Amino acid sequence: MTVIQVQALSKTYGRSRGIQDLSFQVDAKQILGFLGPNGAGKTTTIRTLLGMLRPTSGTASILGLDIQKQSVEIRRKVGYLPGELNLYPDMNALDVLTYFASLRGITLPRLSHELIQQLQLDPKKPICKLSKGNKQKIGIIQAFMHDPQVLILDEPTSGLDPLLQHTFDGLILEAKKQGKAVLLSSHVLGEVDRTADQILIIKQGQVVAQRPLMELKNQAQQQVEVEFAALPPLHRLHNVPAVVESRIQGNTVVFTVTGNMDAFIKALAQYEVLTLRSLSANLESLFMDFYKEDSDVQRV
Ligand SMILES: Nc1ncnc2c1ncn2[C@@H]1O[C@H](COP(=O)(O)OP(=O)(O)OP(=O)(O)O)[C@@H](O)[C@H]1O
Ligand SMILES: [Mg+2]
Repeated sequence: MTVIQVQALSKTYGRSRGIQDLSFQVDAKQILGFLGPNGAGKTTTIRTLLGMLRPTSGTASILGLDIQKQSVEIRRKVGYLPGELNLYPDMNALDVLTYFASLRGITLPRLSHELIQQLQLDPKKPICKLSKGNKQKIGIIQAFMHDPQVLILDEPTSGLDPLLQHTFDGLILEAKKQGKAVLLSSHVLGEVDRTADQILIIKQGQVVAQRPLMELKNQAQQQVEVEFAALPPLHRLHNVPAVVESRIQGNTVVFTVTGNMDAFIKALAQYEVLTLRSLSANLESLFMDFYKEDSDVQRV
């Protein structure tokens, strides 16, 4: 079931570009990792989806509700974590969460207390005395506490230490298991790697890649370390199209390989191989390629 449906959505800020012709969807039981360099348009997309910005053109719906005509209902139903959270400095976490609940027309849900425990937040300490990460926890709790069917999270783990990042991974993986749809904007590639099913990468307001994470990983460059009995003539192996480069250390060669491995394995088989080790796919370098300034903005 499609929960978030975005059709040719554009938003320009006067003359400056925000997002251009963006189309994607997020299904129930799915986590969409929403990536892109600073200024790519992630926050603009999210704020437009929540009715805080009016789209210049295009349409979108969340849970079948139109983002322009039914934004009040959408905001009530969605769990939203803004990129920049402004909290009243003199209130404590409990006050703030009670206030957020009242905006939704509910009393403080029981789930909020469980989340406070799980994230180890001091609920009575004034906000102005909390660290950045501890303030961020309040944002996470208010997004999850009413058990929404849809979570829209703009850089949710910024400021969280690695342990809490993992706790957070657990929260969204559990939400997914329960059938929720999650739109996760993030710069933390490890987090996206651990949680997302689909990846959407935008740059300069346009989609540059949109595909399942597994597919992206299969396409990523792999490093294969091969120890030969005697170093073979490497130009023969370099002629294999999948081989991008190689590094030699004695009789050991680390090949960088991309795509279908078949021809490479067959070429290797002509020589005596003592050991062969496949190092994990380098997802980070793949993302970097998409992020680079000089790579083309194009639909793929
Ligand atoms: N209120 C605004 N007025 C004019 N331009 C804006 C406004 N907000 C954002 N922009 C521009 O829109 C583009 C997209 O910004 P946006 O904040 O959506 O990027 P982002 O992908 O969320 O970046 P980051 O990773 O830094 O959070 C940028 O070029 C930005 O300068
Ligand atoms: Mg942003």
